[in-house]
Amino acid sequence: MKFHLEAFDPSTKARAGRIETDHGTIQTPIFMPVGTAGSVKAVHQRELKDDVKAQIILGNTYHLYLRPGLDIIQKAGGLHGFNGWDRPILTDSGGYQVYSLAGTGRKINESGVAFKSHIDGSVHTFTPERVMDIQRVIGADIIMAFDECTPYPCDYGYARSSMEMTHRWLERCCVRFDSTDSVYTHRQALFPIVQGSVYKDLRRQSAETIASFEREGNAIGGLSVGEPAEIMYELTEDVCDILPKDKPRYLMGVGTPANLLECIALGVDMFDCVMPTRNARNGMIFTTEGTINIRNEKWKDDLSPIDKNLGGYVSTFYSKAYLRHLIRSDEMLGAQIASVHNLTFYLWLVGQAREQIVAGNFLSWKKGIEKKLMQRL
Ligand code: GUN
Repeated sequence: MKFHLEAFDPSTKARAGRIETDHGTIQTPIFMPVGTAGSVKAVHQRELKDDVKAQIILGNTYHLYLRPGLDIIQKAGGLHGFNGWDRPILTDSGGYQVYSLAGTGRKINESGVAFKSHIDGSVHTFTPERVMDIQRVIGADIIMAFDECTPYPCDYGYARSSMEMTHRWLERCCVRFDSTDSVYTHRQALFPIVQGSVYKDLRRQSAETIASFEREGNAIGGLSVGEPAEIMYELTEDVCDILPKDKPRYLMGVGTPANLLECIALGVDMFDCVMPTRNARNGMIFTTEGTINIRNEKWKDDLSPIDKNLGGYVSTFYSKAYLRHLIRSDEMLGAQIASVHNLTFYLWLVGQAREQIVAGNFLSWKKGIEKKLMQRL
């Protein structure tokens, strides 16, 4: 994997770059649609490419390991072969899912985490070494270190010892990753994850430790877990200032359109979040004019396109009234149209941000669009 920086915004810390992987190039800043179980919910591959213009998608180690399991994925030639996505993939390590999904009965110690499957209650153990081996088999281009994502709020003592354990786990991840080869013909990169909850000193310490591993990119975890946005921004800025400039920075699980713009301005290059797809299924539609609850009476006879400014197929072809009808009737097509539209919007937003950074105009563009995006229509 190679990262090239192409432009810096003169008024913020925003940058535009490109990540080169064996499955193609990713232009940054980028948003990565979440494909938890090997599918971006309600969106098939051709729509992801042609309509959404996704450049990289996410998969989850936790889900794919539990179902369908590693044998079938390996037989298919990895996740790329299994789901047919031939562009870059990133897998999260399970460091978040074992806490959020397999919460009850979970046992964590220095060696790793024993957890119960949320599907059938069976008991499994993830160690840093095992998680590296699993991600080798899944075969994503970028894989994540095994970490503990602390909850919010979290007391200082727990946050510190958890962060220290995440650092020791990182050492074990690197040893295992560096002593094994890719199962397939393409190369993989391992990104470590900064933790430290909401404590500035811990965040700084974690960023310095993570940077010292000199991996090909770095991630920021444990944010957007319920803390106020201002705290998230302050910590993200601090951490970005410490992480190396010449490597991609990935802010995990973030966020709203406004969060993306704010964090791009702080020097973040990569984002993922379930928001555009999950909220789509509930009728929350992101548009260039603001956010819509399509279930509202207000849209009942609005036959105008979902978003005429966006240009994508579903966004200009289908009307708000029709989408409202589909979502209210629990028609599957409603979830499909809303998901494709919201993802098209997110990819449009980061694409615009990139263009504005290259043009040296990011800050004034951001100021202009931000107010609109935060509007509830
Ligand atoms: N996704 C969102 N936050 C996190 C985090 O802190 N760790 C991991 N592994 N994934 C995440």
